[in-house]
Amino acid sequence: MQLTWLGHACLLLTGSKRVLIDPFIKDGCLGRTLPDLVAITHGHDDHMAEAVALGKKTIAIPEIARYLAAHGVPAESMNIGGTYTFDGVSFTMTPAMHSASIEEGGLGCGGGAAAGFVIGMDGVRVYHAGDTGLFSDMKLIGELYRPDVALLPIGGRYTMGVTEAMMAANFIGAKTVIPIHYNTWPKISADADLFKTSIERTTDMKVKILIPGETIELSAS
Ligand code: NI
Ligand code: MN
Repeated sequence: MQLTWLGHACLLLTGSKRVLIDPFIKDGCLGRTLPDLVAITHGHDDHMAEAVALGKKTIAIPEIARYLAAHGVPAESMNIGGTYTFDGVSFTMTPAMHSASIEEGGLGCGGGAAAGFVIGMDGVRVYHAGDTGLFSDMKLIGELYRPDVALLPIGGRYTMGVTEAMMAANFIGAKTVIPIHYNTWPKISADADLFKTSIERTTDMKVKILIPGETIELSAS
């Protein structure tokens, strides 16, 4: 399976299916990603700006699924703690400590709750934490789902910063950690090199700092 980081919190997983998570990229559009399925962690624009334009089958919390369905998107709902399986690809929705409104016309309307996903495809398990502060139940996500890869926000201000994300990585225990949701704008600038050196000095985990558009190969553990 291949993982492409498209920048910010947007990810394309390519294996038996093409799965796009949090469809937003800065100064671009995602039309060429041709996803079979889109997964949305929460309603903020920097996570679902292109969901309606893509118009692909989308999985999200019921409040967002209803919103998307009203805009003509074939949306499937699920909620935190549950698992949805699509043609052998599993999506388990995990909690996130964050707000969740859907933004439209400069106003916010109810988007349910913010979430993350553990996605299982081709024997590889990927945890996308969504936007979140640090919470100790990340230990349970590590124990129960044993993700091979964890994508963690490190940009601070709206999510965990480097210090909190270091502890999150320890709670989860994935062998590969990828920092996301940083340096997209000055408000969320963060030192990914510090994150990498701090984790790799004190643990066996590897931190992969990707550049937007970069693809890496993932193998089942
Ligand atoms: Ni957010
Ligand atoms: Mn965000």
